[in-house]
Amino acid sequence: MTLQAAQTQPADSSGKALYGGKGTRRISVHDIAAAKERGEKWPMLTAYDAMTASVFDEAGIPVMLVGDSMGNCHLGYDTTVPVTMDEMTLLSAAVVRGTKRALIVGDLPFGSYQEGPVQALRSATRLVKEAGVGAVKLEGGERSLPQTEMLVQAGIPVMSHLGLTPQSVNTMGYRVQGRGDEAAHRLLRDAKAAQDAGAFALVLELVPAELAAEVTRSLHIPTIGIGAGPETDAQVLVWTDMAGLTGGKVPRFTKQYANLRQTLGDAAKAFAEDVVGGAFPAEEHTFH
Ligand code: KIV
Repeated sequence: MTLQAAQTQPADSSGKALYGGKGTRRISVHDIAAAKERGEKWPMLTAYDAMTASVFDEAGIPVMLVGDSMGNCHLGYDTTVPVTMDEMTLLSAAVVRGTKRALIVGDLPFGSYQEGPVQALRSATRLVKEAGVGAVKLEGGERSLPQTEMLVQAGIPVMSHLGLTPQSVNTMGYRVQGRGDEAAHRLLRDAKAAQDAGAFALVLELVPAELAAEVTRSLHIPTIGIGAGPETDAQVLVWTDMAGLTGGKVPRFTKQYANLRQTLGDAAKAFAEDVVGGAFPAEEHTFH
């Protein structure tokens, strides 16, 4: 959508729309379920700090994920694997503080839930109590069922994540998942298992569009696609990819809506040149 189209997009007449709606209270998982019933599509972005999150909140983004993609996009790691609970808690709390309306979902990092449901509950409880997130996300369908069930029973909303699950990069690599009948059936089974265990939404990463559409039709909880074609209920992008801040090669499924890398670099150079040439600070920046 163009910027002009975004500005003229009408809010839904009931005012309940996740994007473009009139509500100012924080969005809940009940609002997410209602959007699926209305057949409403919605956007999700990652966020890792209060200031960026406040920009997205003011833009009306209804759900933000404090993704473990912070590993690559914010903390300088090569993968998501090294991200710790301390890092996730600190940055999730910042995103919660920077927002008023969005539902904030904290990602459970690698090693914080794989031991079993009790470890998952301890980690998720920390994100809810210390950071104030409204939900958590974890990777895996059937393999993470006991964890999902335990969290849901404890009153913590869970977003599941299937397809490419970056925490398994060392066994899975970065390639499209769910190709071929057997893999597609396994993914569909995993998706239903996550729903049955009580997950309120499901991320589908890097799966064929036809399979994502079938999963979306089969579930009553919303699917959130990233590299999963146009027929999922929602779409998520890593914000640094979306805004053109990420350096180097970005995945084919992302769309760049700005070129922040260029803009920031130009601003830094202009500042440096002003300092070196004596143009900054000028009289209006100076106290006497
Ligand atoms: O960590 C993350 O940013 C994610 C999204 C890509 C869904 O898991």
